[in-house]
Amino acid sequence: MAEVSSAQSAPDAKLYVEAAEARKFIEAVLTGNGVPASNAAVVAKCLVAADLRGVDTHGINRIPSYMARVRAGVLDGTATPSLSKITPVVAQVDGRNGFGFLAASLGMKEACEMAREFGIGMVSIKHSNHFGMSAWIVQQAIDDGMMSLVFTNSSPALPVFGGKSKLMGVSPIACGAPGGQEKPFILDMAPSVAARGKIYKAKRRGEKIPLDWALDAEGRPTDDPTAALGGVMLPMGGPKGSALAIMMDVFSGVLSGSEFAGGVTGPYDPSKPSDVGHFLVAIKPDLFMSLDDFRKRMDFLYQRVVGSDKAAGVERIYFPGEIEQLTQEERERTGIPLVQAEIDALNEEAKKVGKPLITIRAQ
Ligand SMILES: NC(=O)c1ccc[n+]([C@@H]2O[C@H](COP(=O)([O-])OP(=O)(O)OC[C@H]3O[C@@H](n4cnc5c(N)ncnc54)[C@H](O)[C@@H]3O)[C@@H](O)[C@H]2O)c1
Repeated sequence: MAEVSSAQSAPDAKLYVEAAEARKFIEAVLTGNGVPASNAAVVAKCLVAADLRGVDTHGINRIPSYMARVRAGVLDGTATPSLSKITPVVAQVDGRNGFGFLAASLGMKEACEMAREFGIGMVSIKHSNHFGMSAWIVQQAIDDGMMSLVFTNSSPALPVFGGKSKLMGVSPIACGAPGGQEKPFILDMAPSVAARGKIYKAKRRGEKIPLDWALDAEGRPTDDPTAALGGVMLPMGGPKGSALAIMMDVFSGVLSGSEFAGGVTGPYDPSKPSDVGHFLVAIKPDLFMSLDDFRKRMDFLYQRVVGSDKAAGVERIYFPGEIEQLTQEERERTGIPLVQAEIDALNEEAKKVGKPLITIRAQ
């Protein structure tokens, strides 16, 4: 292990941080900002899960914006979510304006417990915050042997179909199912052509974006991430992507009692609480057959999908979530790649609270 100074690396060179170090660093910065250690550990685990899966947009780089919100007093890092049972298979979580990671983690735990006993468990979550990458919640259910649906709403970024200004969030729709010997199924997708975090990442890294991702403030296609952030994201598939974004708002916002219809405040805006809503469902996979049969059928589906005839130029067909799982296997060996500007921004956060700088892995 060695510390690498700014002078030693080119701006776009990748510097690798081990997952355990990333978690330790996040925990130190969070506790330095007054977040209890138990809360900080959950946030660190979920953010680093995103970095490991290659979802760099929703990992450790979120720390500066999250901490700005904690310091501004619009996100309560000390809050513990509360849970109330509504029916034997339905619960409600009040996130109490704490980290979305805590509310969603508690919610999925309860959903899985209800599903284990009754076959299905549904949890509505209100007064929450950004929970990062949805796939960590799907993985939590898979680790508990459950299928799941994971919905959230988010701050305005997309016009609805036919509209020109931001109204709906780029709210991810996610679901999953455990496999047998093969990889589990994990779908985790934003209803936009690209997740907005990818534009922030391009901006941080000084990169251009594809022209079909967003429009600038004048409604023109742009490859400039800053201009894109001043404009609107484009929904995938026109009215279908727009409808999926509205669906996330119906289930996560309208139903829960949280903000909706353009009312959620974004994770980069330190002016007021976000009031995000989430919607989680866990389903027991062996409701209609034995678990062994279910797992064998999932494996058969996997093999049929990845074994399909390949289109011209395609080398390999992947199951949903598989690329991210392969990335995780690699990053557990290599560490998490970051660029110097990202390391600098993280170290600024450490300096603000008198904690050690992040340690770069010697290559
Ligand atoms: N919390 C929030 O408010 C919020 C908002 C937006 C996005 N996000 C997160 O951002 C992340 C990125 O979303 P995205 O839509 O850009 O994801 P993406 O486009 O990279 O992937 C979407 C889905 O397609 C699958 N996939 C991608 N390439 C594939 C291939 N070649 N073969 C087979 N399957 C493939 C992935 O496994 C994934 O399930 C998600 O983790 C999402 O949860 C969070």
